[in-house]
Amino acid sequence: MNTKNAFIVLEGVEGSGKSTQSQLLSQKLSSEGISNLLVREPGGTDTGEKIRALILEGYELNPLTELFLFSAARSELIQNEIIPALDSNTVVVCDRYIYSSIAYQGYAKGLNLDTVGEVNSIATSRISPDLVFLLDINPEVSFERKKADPKDRFEKESITFHNSVRKGYLCLAKSNQNAWHIIDAEKSSGIISAIIWEKVITLLK
Ligand code: TYD
Repeated sequence: MNTKNAFIVLEGVEGSGKSTQSQLLSQKLSSEGISNLLVREPGGTDTGEKIRALILEGYELNPLTELFLFSAARSELIQNEIIPALDSNTVVVCDRYIYSSIAYQGYAKGLNLDTVGEVNSIATSRISPDLVFLLDINPEVSFERKKADPKDRFEKESITFHNSVRKGYLCLAKSNQNAWHIIDAEKSSGIISAIIWEKVITLLK
């Protein structure tokens, strides 16, 4: 039984390796006997997965509609999974969170950042992570890694779009230096997971 909870978020552009690192972190926590919950956004609940399919596989949506749909999925995840897990001292590892909406719908699609922030605050009951790892990489490099994979609506966006997403993340990281850690995502998977683990274990001590 853990003595402490923790809320850990991984963010980054497509192909930055954050889903792999989220899984590695969850496996490491489990191997150390630390109970944890790994979730991803959008998704993580039955309704959230349906909303995910609607957003990623459906038609083009206006950015405000997208914001509300991502936030609806997020609200389900927060209320049904994340809050109960934190309440029982579980470590929550979340692959994307509100910062994806700020970077994608705000910085890249041009929605007012205060609007995105306000909707996110309502959807999450203002629950903030203890740690955020930004796996930072030039989108031209990360897209090269994923070039053989089928592409969803966001992955089909231009490099300019993904550069704006990256810029948004870097602005967020620079203005929240206590919780955020920028990691060079071109480093090897082993090095990245060691950097993440060192910060996580320090938090849990
Ligand atoms: P996903 O396949 O989960 O991408 P990845 O494996 O890179 O995490 O698709 C999620 C897509 O949705 C991704 O392109 C980012 C985008 N997104 C937003 O635009 N806003 C959001 O709030 C979230 C959570 C995701």
